[in-house]
Amino acid sequence: MIAPEKSMPDTIDVRILRQEGPGKKPYWERHRIQYEREMNVISVLQKVAAQAKTVEGKDVAPVAWDCGCLEEVCGSCTMVINGRVRQSCSALVDKLLADQPSHIELAPMTKFPVLRDLLVDRSRLFRGLKKIKAWVPVDGYYDMGPGERQSREQQEQAYPLSQCMSCGCCLDACPQYKKIEVDRITGESEEDYQARCNAEYDNAFIGANAISQVMLFNDHPVGKMMADERMEALTEPGGIQVCGNAQNCVAVCPKEIPLTTSIARAGRAATVHAIKQFFDR
Ligand code: SF4
Ligand code: SF4
Ligand code: FES
Repeated sequence: MIAPEKSMPDTIDVRILRQEGPGKKPYWERHRIQYEREMNVISVLQKVAAQAKTVEGKDVAPVAWDCGCLEEVCGSCTMVINGRVRQSCSALVDKLLADQPSHIELAPMTKFPVLRDLLVDRSRLFRGLKKIKAWVPVDGYYDMGPGERQSREQQEQAYPLSQCMSCGCCLDACPQYKKIEVDRITGESEEDYQARCNAEYDNAFIGANAISQVMLFNDHPVGKMMADERMEALTEPGGIQVCGNAQNCVAVCPKEIPLTTSIARAGRAATVHAIKQFFDR
């Protein structure tokens, strides 16, 4: 419940975990901004950046963060707010203050390399989606005709999974999804660095979002053309077998995607795939 207006403070203290660049030591910094009604965390960060001054009056570089849609659709503004991974555009200040009146605490996601301050590199997440071919293969310059119709039941099963916005909350909360941070080698090209990162990413746990997307695209009338390739990717090192069923993922997904249902279905599909592979040898 949002606290009544008269109890709201004139100012809000914001503690931010800052980091000047990849591999640099993180440090906490406290800022104080004027309170306004109905702010979200993005508007707090805009005020903090415009002020660029700590609570002690020290001039500092503006805090960096990422955002796009401002309506919980693009997934780019994810950070850890008061200890919980979530979107900063939909985190409402009045609600945060009602739960914890002393201050708001902002930190970057914990499982992705920090680029600067609250801005992280989520390329491992997108690498995972590429690995499992999270798309329907219909691109072309010719008319392929109408696709196969989906029943209402199929649509109802697919719709929740299609809402995934690649925000990474499920990965940040997952005990099996360990942080990977690859150091750069002096003189190394960007291509070589990316290739080393991808090799590391490909061997590590792919995560709940990608597992769920395999179910979405393997259920699709056209997407299922690549079902075996997706199951192959899902049973490689870093695949579904790494999931320890801790269920943290489903608890933090802002879109309330039934991730553990997807994981259970994918586990059964992986068993069928393995048996099929055995007899196809
Ligand atoms: S159920 Fe699996 S994917 Fe979800 S948090 Fe647990 S280990 Fe991670
Ligand atoms: S499954 Fe949920 S928490 Fe995970 S990336 Fe998609 S929307 Fe975010
Ligand atoms: S800015 Fe797009 S989800 Fe928050």
